[in-house]
Order: sequence, then structure tokens, then C-alpha cells
Amino acid sequence: MKNESGASVPYWVKDVSVMDTQKLTNNLTCDVCVVGGGIAGLTTAYLLAKEGKRVILLEAKAIGGGETGRTTAHLSNALDDRYANLINLFGKDGARLACLSHARAIDKIEEITKEENIDAAFHRLNGYLFANNREQQDELMKELEAVQQIGWRDVVMRKECPVVSLTALPCLQFPEQGRFHALKYLAGLLKAFTEKGGQVFTQTKVVEFKSGNVATVVTEDGHTVSSNHLVVATNTPVNDMVTMHTKQAPYRTYVVALSVPKGAVPDALYWDMDNPYHYIRLQTAEDRGAATDLLIVGGEDHKTGQDAHPDKHYYALERWARLKFPMAGEVEYRWSGQVYEPVDRLAFIGRNPGDADNVYIATGDSGHGMTHGTIAGMLLTDLIMGRPNEWTKIYDPARISLKSAGEFLKENLNVAAQMKDYVTPGEVEDPSEVLPGTGRLMRKGTTKVAVYCDAEGVRHECSAVCTHLGCIVSWNNVENSWDCPCHGSRFDPYGRVVTGPATKNLEKL
Ligand SMILES: Cc1cc2nc3c(=O)[nH]c(=O)nc-3n(C[C@H](O)[C@H](O)[C@H](O)COP(=O)(O)OP(=O)(O)OC[C@H]3O[C@@H](n4cnc5c(N)ncnc54)[C@H](O)[C@@H]3O)c2cc1C
Ligand code: FES
Repeated sequence: MKNESGASVPYWVKDVSVMDTQKLTNNLTCDVCVVGGGIAGLTTAYLLAKEGKRVILLEAKAIGGGETGRTTAHLSNALDDRYANLINLFGKDGARLACLSHARAIDKIEEITKEENIDAAFHRLNGYLFANNREQQDELMKELEAVQQIGWRDVVMRKECPVVSLTALPCLQFPEQGRFHALKYLAGLLKAFTEKGGQVFTQTKVVEFKSGNVATVVTEDGHTVSSNHLVVATNTPVNDMVTMHTKQAPYRTYVVALSVPKGAVPDALYWDMDNPYHYIRLQTAEDRGAATDLLIVGGEDHKTGQDAHPDKHYYALERWARLKFPMAGEVEYRWSGQVYEPVDRLAFIGRNPGDADNVYIATGDSGHGMTHGTIAGMLLTDLIMGRPNEWTKIYDPARISLKSAGEFLKENLNVAAQMKDYVTPGEVEDPSEVLPGTGRLMRKGTTKVAVYCDAEGVRHECSAVCTHLGCIVSWNNVENSWDCPCHGSRFDPYGRVVTGPATKNLEKL
């Protein structure tokens, strides 16, 4: 399924469409202004409203219209960056805190669904990390040792995976994981937030951030919100030009959802150890009101804007799903989205480095954005309420880890290497070569032009130079967008910003 601009439509949208409220049409003041209506922004806004703060939330599109609407919504503290690595980077105490923070986030989601009576199909279940070869089996053993070291004693090695077609090798069983319906949850949070006096303005894009004792944001239409505290939860911080974007890298990730006979696959979360890796969950027949279960298979991640044929990842994913789940029926949904991988593997949640003390960010979610977003809500609420929180240090956006210097260098060399696109030839020499419904790059002197041909055969040209820091965008034939290979900005076929860090559209030619 695709929407009118050619972007994929995730399964969740069938049950709950992304949520519009009203546009901001005047200037307002409040205690806390939150920018971004995904799980991080809305959880923070809700928890602060619950503390009695006057909170205003501003969202450029609709609530859930960002990556939260595109998630697969595993709720897990079996972190995919592996505890063996986290112990190396943050020590046993740091890794233990990370583990407990995600466990606490799952508890928090469960608590909120009960307290606010949100029917978000929340379920507790086991998670299984399975090996596909002997090398991975050794890694599995190391991971078991690591979780034992941080005191997570009820993780066990199982000789057989509950789905025998997945692997003949052992797997680790992680208890007390979860799954839920991300958009039903957001809808419930939105209702609870407004009932507590919170104000929400959608289709309200912030284009300017002014720091100071009182922080002020300016919207596209020129209206302002001034607040004592400002939280920027825009998935990637659009209030930061450089610093944070050197510490994390954007990846595209793909999902196919296939029907499977009811009960054929035990209800659990499954993750493999391949690179790129695969993640699997069910939406059961009961939860989706259908005769069959829905098997949701994700993975095939790659660096944003650095793959000339993104569509091949859907085929690879489907092939893999059919091999591992021979009982799989037809593909009902396919969608893709974006995650940010921090160089030292934990999210960045806290005060914005180099900014006033009352400006906070939440970013670097990796594949654990449901729990990271909830951690953001809890941690930022404590910071704003002036309460100590033991997670402050491990999630501090200003942290520097010498142990991740190699990864930092690798990611930033990769960004520098993208400048080669300035000297490579164009994909076409003339706009007439661009076929309807596609986009192609054309060389024009020393720069490049992004040419999109719409379904009626009309060609639209904009500069291919990303308005963030000047890399050359590339065409994404899965989402019909121009994607930047450097820090993940994305633009629609006509050059309008879809996701930051860029805040300005591609220049129209
Ligand atoms: C395919 C896929 C599968 C995933 N699977 C999982 C999973 O199983 N488990 C898990 O935990 N995580 C998963 N994730 C990650 C998770 O979905 C995300 O990390 C999480 O949803 C991010 O939430 P967020 O609130 O930070 O960002 P978003 O949901 O992207 O919200 C940010 C919002 O900010 C708004 N915004 C941006 N700029 C502005 C501006 N200038 N003014 C106003 N508003 C603005 C955007 O429109 C957007 O709505 C997955 C992600 C993808 C793509
Ligand atoms: S996103 Fe940074 S240069 Fe494009």
C-alpha cells in the first residue's frame, strides 16, 4: 500500500490513522514546550502534564506521522547492540543501568495502558535471540555470560528454538519482553495528555529555536511558543546543526507482514544475529480481528541514501521470511522507515550540548525507540522537575567515549566519502530520460539536479544539494523520496522536507 506521495503505509495505520488536532494560529506561553509528536515527545508531554506542568506539544505533521507510525513495536530490553559490547563501552554498572532502564520502560508502558485504560494490545512474552551458525553460537554464549555479569539471571540458553524452522542451533530466551500496537498506544496517550490540560498543535512545523532563560520556538507560519523548558523530540534533533549528527548514523530498515495460520508460530519476539539482522513478531488474529495471524518480519537495514536499489530489500526480506517460515501466506503489508544508530550504541537523552540548560533532546533511538522514547519521557521529566535520575549519565548527549572513537571515525569518514557525488557523472543527461513515477540525478555544471517525473509525465527539478550540510541526495524508489546519504534528511519527490536534520526544502530550479 502507498499513500498519495508514493510512501509506504504501515500496518498500524489500518486501525488508527495518524492523528491531527489543530494548527497553531497565535502566540502562546507555557512551562514546557515539546516539539515532536512521536513516542518520545508525547510520553514526555504526558508525564509532565501529569506532574501539573502546563505543556504545549507542536508537531509538524500528524501525531504518529514520524517513525513511531512505522515501527514494529517490539518492547525489549534484550538490546540488539549486545550486553557484551555495552559492558565494554559503559562497564558492568552502565550496562546494568541500560538493561534496567529498558525493563522499566516496558513496565511504564504497561502501567500507562492500565492507568489510562488504553486498549493497545499490550502483551508480555518471551524474546528469542537465535544463532544461524557456529560462530554465532559462540557469540550467544558470550552474551549469556554478559547478561549474567550484569545480574539478569533469568535469561536462559535453550537447545531448541520454539520455531524449529528458524534454526537447528540453540537460542537465548529473554523473559518479560513485550509487544503492542504503537498507534493505538499513541492515540490513548494523546487523549490522556489533553485530558490533563495539555495542548497539541499538529501541522505546525518549528523552523527556528531561540535559546535563553525563556526558550522560544517560531513556527513556519510565524507564530511563537515561549517556555521555561524546551524538549526537542524530533527523532533527529533539528535544533542542532552539526554536533549530534556526527555521533549517530541513519539507516533505512524494511518490513514485510505476511499472513500465517492462526497459532502456527508461537507468540514471541525473535531476532537473529546476521548482519544485516532480522526481527520478527506476531500480531495475532485476535489482536487484529482477522482469521489469520500476521507475521511481521523486519530487517535488511542499510545506510540511508547509500543503496541504488532499495526495493531489492523487500524481496530479500520476503525470501528470508519464506525460507524460515514455510507456513507463511501472502504478503499483506510492506513498509520501510529510518532508525538512528549512535556510535556508542545508547540513545542521547538529556540537555542539548552547547545549548542553554533548559533545552533537552531525545535522539539515537536505534532499533529500540519504543523503550528509548519512554525512557526519554521518564528521564526528561525528572530533569525538568529537578529530581535526580540514575540514568542521566549513561544517556547524556554530551558524553564522549574514547572506546567508541573508532566507530565515530568510521561513520564520519563515511560521511566525508559521500562528497564524491559532486564529481561523479549524472544518472541521466536530459530530464526527458526520467521515466514517470521515478527520480534521477542529472549533472549541471559543477553540481547536480534532482529530476522527478510525475505520473502525468511532468518533470520537476530541484537542486540535489541537501540543505543540511550540502551532500548530494539520492532517489529512494521504495518511498518515492530524495534521501541524503550523510545524516538522513529526506525530501519528497518535489523537494519538500520529510525528515530532518534539514529544515529547508531543496532549492527549486
Ligand atoms: C521499520 C521500523 C521498525 C522498528 N521497530 C522497532 C521495534 O520493534 N522496537 C522499538 O523499540 N523500536 C523500533 N523502531 C524504532 C522506533 O520506531 C523509533 O525509534 C521511534 O518511533 C522514534 O520515536 P520518536 O518519537 O523519537 O520519533 P518520531 O516518531 O519520528 O517522532 C518525531 C516527530 O517529530 C516531528 N518533527 C520533526 N521535525 C519537526 C519540526 N521542525 N517541528 C515540529 N515537529 C517536527 C515529526 O513529524 C515526527 O512526528 C523501529 C523503527 C522502524 C522504522
Ligand atoms: S542530512 Fe546532513 S548533509 Fe544532508
